[in-house]
Amino acid sequence: MSSDCCCSSKAKSLKKVFSPDSVAIIGASAEPGKIGYQVLNNILKNDFKGKVYPVNRKATEIMGVKCYPSMLEIPGDVDFAVIAVPAPLVEGVMRECAKKNIKGAVVITSGFSEIGKKKEEDVLKEIADQHGIALLGPNTFGFVYTPSNLNASFGPQNVAPGKIAFISQSGALGISLMGWTMMEKIGMASVVSLGNKADIGEKELIEYFNDDPNVSVILIYMEGIKNGREFMTTKLKKPVVILKSGSSSRGAQAAASHTGSLAGSDKIYTAAFNQLGMIRARTFTQAFGAASALSMPLPKGSDAVIITNGGGIGVSATDECENAGIKMVDDHEWLEAKFRSTMPDFGSTKNPIDVTGGGGREGYQKAVRVALAEDRIHAVIVLYCETAVLDPVDVAKAVIEEYNAVKRNKPLVVTMVGGERSRQAIQILNEHQIPAMTEVLEAVSGLKALYTWQEISSRPKEVAVAPEIPAKALEIIEAIRKEGRTFLLEHESRKVLEICGVPMPKWGFARTADEAVKVAEATKMYPIAMKIASVDIIHKSDVGGVILNVKNAEELKAKFAQMMETVKKNAPKANLLGVNLCQMVDGLQCIVGMNKDPQFGPAVMFGLGGIFVEVLKDVSFRIVPFSEGEAQRLVGEIKARKLLDGYRGQGAHKASIIKTLMAVQKIAAHVKEVDINPLITNKDGSYAVDARIII
Ligand code: ACO
Repeated sequence: MSSDCCCSSKAKSLKKVFSPDSVAIIGASAEPGKIGYQVLNNILKNDFKGKVYPVNRKATEIMGVKCYPSMLEIPGDVDFAVIAVPAPLVEGVMRECAKKNIKGAVVITSGFSEIGKKKEEDVLKEIADQHGIALLGPNTFGFVYTPSNLNASFGPQNVAPGKIAFISQSGALGISLMGWTMMEKIGMASVVSLGNKADIGEKELIEYFNDDPNVSVILIYMEGIKNGREFMTTKLKKPVVILKSGSSSRGAQAAASHTGSLAGSDKIYTAAFNQLGMIRARTFTQAFGAASALSMPLPKGSDAVIITNGGGIGVSATDECENAGIKMVDDHEWLEAKFRSTMPDFGSTKNPIDVTGGGGREGYQKAVRVALAEDRIHAVIVLYCETAVLDPVDVAKAVIEEYNAVKRNKPLVVTMVGGERSRQAIQILNEHQIPAMTEVLEAVSGLKALYTWQEISSRPKEVAVAPEIPAKALEIIEAIRKEGRTFLLEHESRKVLEICGVPMPKWGFARTADEAVKVAEATKMYPIAMKIASVDIIHKSDVGGVILNVKNAEELKAKFAQMMETVKKNAPKANLLGVNLCQMVDGLQCIVGMNKDPQFGPAVMFGLGGIFVEVLKDVSFRIVPFSEGEAQRLVGEIKARKLLDGYRGQGAHKASIIKTLMAVQKIAAHVKEVDINPLITNKDGSYAVDARIII
């Protein structure tokens, strides 16, 4: 069976997990304290319309439903089974399920790979694969799928229906957030606890929900990925918001090169999410805010208005909009003409539209109506600070009325700050699928997520092809590997990178002073940077092995002799092979590198060099292979990107930076690390001024 075929059969099986005609609960119990009781109770109380078969060795009936002693005794077909028996019994139960030809199973039982029992877990996966069963877990609390009224979990009951599919790697957090969304009245299409991910993981679920019309947004809480390379093949059709915990830099500490020390798993995860087009959230309120906002219509342009009854909160929303890059309508004359009638004389139309504490329900309603009616306004942020003169629930109702009247024609988010009544108003808004939050930041970042998704979904479809290394470059690398060396000298690194397409300044390698002059004269290389070439010397400047700004042949000859003498004195045991010559170039110092992540494999890094890389670690990554569009986004992602656009006369040659990033990909599969530090860029081009390859 090809892997494609296997995937599509698992996707079919997943359909029977979420929308089965019949469910068996193996380990169903009449004892209320047991998980087998809770699962059965949730299924029955949630009004699931299919057949329900409790399986219990002793009982003949539980909660008024006929019980069967084993799976095999159930008459007719069973689509899906929940397994909640002790760990040593799970394999036998799975085999019975396979005999019964079930399509999906969720194994709630703990005691597998999470406590080192990987082999026992692998057996479950084997059975699932052999029989085309989609297996969720083990070690999960189950799942809820509201479109089929199925609550196959021991979590809370009565999850409100909605359009968000929430996938949680953490069981405890998943259950608690289920409770939280219920309190906030945020509707869910599904809540899935992934457990140990023996079979079904994030990729399979994303790809399943891609084609599920009941789901419009996918939200993932992730702790880690089992197979990064496979995760990178995930296809996205809908917005995915990701909340990822853990930013360990253990991997980074072990790495030898500059690039390696900057990697760290969190930066690589960020690269993976960006590359896949996933939207990252930092807190769970932000994540749910973004997911709720992503269920709204996409904005038809970039201009937002803020409607508020308080100046302070309006200013803070304006700040957040600026931070998020959301533009505000700022044609004051036009705003005055449109909004003046919505507020008392002392109100402000300057966006924030401040209807003031005296604006009342009518003021809010009118202002929201104008904002929704005007095509020039593309997104609306409604803010409310609780006062004794206006009930927040009234504001919520006014917003709902206006929004429904225009058939939800543009994105609208709400923040309400206050007490009990504001809370109630937020819940009412959420119940009506209007994203409402207690924090300005969350409302604005929700809106920002919508803009981000709009940009992601409008990107041209590009296929990233694993690039081939040119034969000549591979020959050089292999010859050095045969020699038993683990790194390439500078001139060797340069040669390899140049063949791959990395732009170089004029450069050469000379064993003698005469040779140096010949190379320099032939290429008109002056002014020149000279660097000693020796396998035995790592820190060249410490031993006098670097001389800059050599201006002519006479100086070059003298400096060559001087360098040889000084280095011999400072490092008497070093074998000196010659001197690297490189044309001096001016411009912005960047850094380009490549190293290998244990999860995701080769990743290419870009950032500004010098102080930016040392102090601010302002670098970003992409996982190989990546497209040219991705390389462009990588360059645009660093914090100091304005410097690249040109600042105080300086500027970057982006095309040649992108060429460098694409070229470095070519050797990624054949070496361990690459450092081009610095890559100097100016208006005319970019130049790899120093290069190092570790194999
Ligand atoms: N066929 C039919 N019925 C069976 C079988 C079988 N092969 N084997 C056992 N049963 C019955 C038992 O007789 C019992 O019924 P009873 O209450 O009428 O006697 C019922 O199934 C349950 O079996 P128990 O042996 O009582 O097991 P118990 O319920 O104590 O524990 C469980 C089973 C819940 C699966 C446990 O082993 C376990 O793994 N618990 C942890 C689950 C968990 O936390 N998962 C991760 C969630 S994520 C998070 O952290 C929130």
